[in-house]
Order: sequence, then C-alpha cells, then structure tokens
Amino acid sequence: MNILSPSVLAIDFGHMERDLVEAWKAGANTIHLDVMDGMFVPSISFGMPVIKYVRKALPDAFLDAHMMVQNPSRYFDDIIEAGADSITIHYEATDSVKKDIELLKEKGVKVGVAISPDTPVSCIEDIIESVDMILVMTVYPGFGGQKFIDASLDRIKAVKKMVDDKNLNVNIEVDGGITLQNVQTVINAGANVIVSGSAVFTDDITGSVKSFLKLLKECD
Ligand code: DX5
Ligand code: ZN
Repeated sequence: MNILSPSVLAIDFGHMERDLVEAWKAGANTIHLDVMDGMFVPSISFGMPVIKYVRKALPDAFLDAHMMVQNPSRYFDDIIEAGADSITIHYEATDSVKKDIELLKEKGVKVGVAISPDTPVSCIEDIIESVDMILVMTVYPGFGGQKFIDASLDRIKAVKKMVDDKNLNVNIEVDGGITLQNVQTVINAGANVIVSGSAVFTDDITGSVKSFLKLLKECD
C-alpha cells in the first residue's frame, strides 16, 4: 500500500494544530517530523517540544521522526518519550548504524535508515534486513522546498531491487521535492512512503492531500 506522510516542516506554525488536524482528516496516513541539529545539516528545525505538541494534537497518528542529527542515539529516549512511533536515522550521521538500529528495536519503535543523495546505495546492503524502512533522500537534507534530484530515480530502483531480491518487507520512503507532478514516477520506481511538505501544506491542505491520495491509489 502507498502511504502519504506530510512533513510538518512546511506547516504554518501559527496554526499548527488546525492544519495538522486538516491534513489528518483529509486522509494523511502518517506524519513526518524533520528534526535538524545544525550540525549534520546546516539548519535547525525543531525537537522534542514540537513532537509532543503534534502527539497531543493527533493522539492516534503514526509519527515518524526523521532525525537529521549527528550521533542520533543521544536523543532516542527523548524523541520516543515525546511521542514518536518510528525513528529514521541517517546512515551518514553515525559511526554505529548497526548498534543504533538494535537500540531502537530494543526500545520498541519502528526503525528507518536514510541515505543522502551522495551515499552509495550499496552501503545499506548489510543493514536492510534489519530495518522497517529505507529513506532515499531525493534532495540534500536540510531544507524544505527544494527541487527533486532526477538521479534519485535510479537509486530508488536499486533499493527496490535489493528489497525484492532479498524478498523483504521493507518500506521505501522518498523525501524532498515530491509533487503531484512527479509522485507517480517515484512510486513506479519503487517508493511506497511519500513524504511531502510544501506540496501538502498549501492554501488548500484538504485538496492537496486528496489529490495526492488519488494519485497514490492509482498506483496501488
Ligand atoms: C528535507 C526534509 C524534508 C522536507 C521536504 O531535509 O527532510 O522532509 O520537509 O519538503 P518538500 O516536500 O517541500 O521538499
Ligand atoms: Zn524529512
């Protein structure tokens, strides 16, 4: 099944609860929370207090924290306590990716590993069997509203092939520059979890979510 995961980064923070509830009621499947530390990526976004707020606004939603954070294990407990159901760490941000994956599993959350555009797909070969999701970044992490990198399509296909060859049940997420115009292309390449920020939190959130869901369903 294809899943739409709106990224809170693009929300109007002055009307956060209202817009979250609108996206959720329109049919968003999970919520994507971009945590940035100003070290792994140049920008700083938000952390535990905002995740707590989202959890309070949407008690039943599945929340995935995309941690663009160096040495992310420092914050696993805090992020989980704030309300995350799933934590996605960056392959490039830790020297102990296998250890971090095991730690997260012990803590009982779903585990994702993200790869930035310059990281060879082959890096995930020996961890893919132990995660719930691989996030193929389709822009350089750090900012919303960037343009989709076309070379990502071959990377998505390569991850999909790995998943199929090993007969795994691993989600393939894409994040960055996903729009109503290119979403079916990334799904056809193999992605099934679609993150979108600026193309969801528009002036017409309900309309945007419904348009995405229609396109996602056509590809199911
Ligand atoms: C980028 C973030 C994305 C971002 C996507 O570092 O990981 O989740 O919010 O935003 P759009 O959909 O606007 O490219
Ligand atoms: Zn993200």
